[in-house]
Amino acid sequence: MPTRNESAAALLDGIRSFIEPAQVRTDPDSCLNYGRDWTRLYTPDPLAVVLPGNIEQIQQLVRYANEHRLALVPSGGRTGLSGAAVAHHGEIVVSMERMNRILEFDSTDRSVTCQAGVVTEALQNFARDHGLYYPVDFASRGSSQIGGNIATNAGGIKVVRYGLTRDWVTGLKVVTGRGDLLDLNRGLIKNASGYDLRHLFVGSEGTLGIIVEATLKLTRSPREPSVMVLGVPDLDGVMSLYHVFRNKLELSAFEFFSELALRHVLKKGVQRPFDAETPYYVLIEFENPDESHTDQALALFEHCAEQGWLADGVISQSETQAKELWRLREDISESISEHQPYKNDIAVRISRVPALLAEIDELLAREYPDFEVLWYGHIGDGNLHVNILKPTDLDSATFAQKCGAVSEHLFAVLQRHGGSISAEHGVGLTKKPYLRYSRDETEIGYLRAIKQVFDPNGIMNPGKIFD
Ligand code: MLT
Ligand code: ZN
Repeated sequence: MPTRNESAAALLDGIRSFIEPAQVRTDPDSCLNYGRDWTRLYTPDPLAVVLPGNIEQIQQLVRYANEHRLALVPSGGRTGLSGAAVAHHGEIVVSMERMNRILEFDSTDRSVTCQAGVVTEALQNFARDHGLYYPVDFASRGSSQIGGNIATNAGGIKVVRYGLTRDWVTGLKVVTGRGDLLDLNRGLIKNASGYDLRHLFVGSEGTLGIIVEATLKLTRSPREPSVMVLGVPDLDGVMSLYHVFRNKLELSAFEFFSELALRHVLKKGVQRPFDAETPYYVLIEFENPDESHTDQALALFEHCAEQGWLADGVISQSETQAKELWRLREDISESISEHQPYKNDIAVRISRVPALLAEIDELLAREYPDFEVLWYGHIGDGNLHVNILKPTDLDSATFAQKCGAVSEHLFAVLQRHGGSISAEHGVGLTKKPYLRYSRDETEIGYLRAIKQVFDPNGIMNPGKIFD
């Protein structure tokens, strides 16, 4: 990494010879904003922020970075929660913000090709305007970008029905860490011509190269989705509801959250869904095109109430009400952000969820008796978010150290259940120390070897996923 002296200035002048000078920024505001993601755990300190306008400029930048051994941090909407887009060691942030055009739509293929900087919601709206649907969805839809979603294999709230970002990517253009442009899979559904490099870039967190364009599948829009929120006395009840509702309705979401998590959302002015307070809540979204589906949902509700699996509930009567109910779950992350939560984003097979939950609950009660622990997540995908809130009187460093120590126990439990340390937020910086709980040394050796092929000089997002 260059030191901040004449040579750094000369290096940036070199970049300004192939990227418009105004798009090579070093002002403190740009460095702060583009040098961080939503983790807020690291002090941003990039050398510069570069906003290329086309693929050629990106290739030139990568080649230049190889020549001068400059580290590059690819940057999308920076809504990540693992520090994968953080630049804190004098790197150059490569923002895809200017490359935000939708390039092609084909109604026969039901596919769209766009630049990596297109915002998720813009793509969703584009699909809707063309009578179709892009189903990967999450609370940060208004600022996250398609390239970042692909680089983290983003999941979100509809995975139970539609899968992850990976399942919607039929083509990728990437500039590798060597500066080569690869055109991967070209929108094909079937392609059995050898290794599928596209999938290496999905979830690569910017460590192999820069995603510059993507071709994505679209699907038909859901028919009249309805939302139910149910109050549940215990976690066993949550799992029982999952079995019952999944077997009888076409679910597009099955989410859960705790009363403790809900209270933070209520503090922001959202209304409690019904009078009863229960330790847990389930949010179910399902296609409800006619009365028979509503009747089925109500019959299931009655059955579950009789079994004691739920205490109360509500079903949306309009799109507006459905949106309000979604806020109870979607607003949790933002409403707790002021408490600097220590975030966990773990995954196990769905069948292992009850045993894992019981063990972790017991562990946390023992190890964090004084901390506020919040559960929520995508239980229908086996993905649980465990957030530990920082007590106001505890300094950040001591809090992080205490949480880190318990993480070792937590991930050991997870490992015994065959789980993953990250379901959807990625490894980045925050989970890097724990990667060994998900991947053994031999497998990590293969990961390193793959990185070496695509990025022999280690200029692509160094220090992320592994050192
Ligand atoms: C969510 O499910 O709300 C997101 O993954 C964000 C979070 O975990 O806080
Ligand atoms: Zn999530």
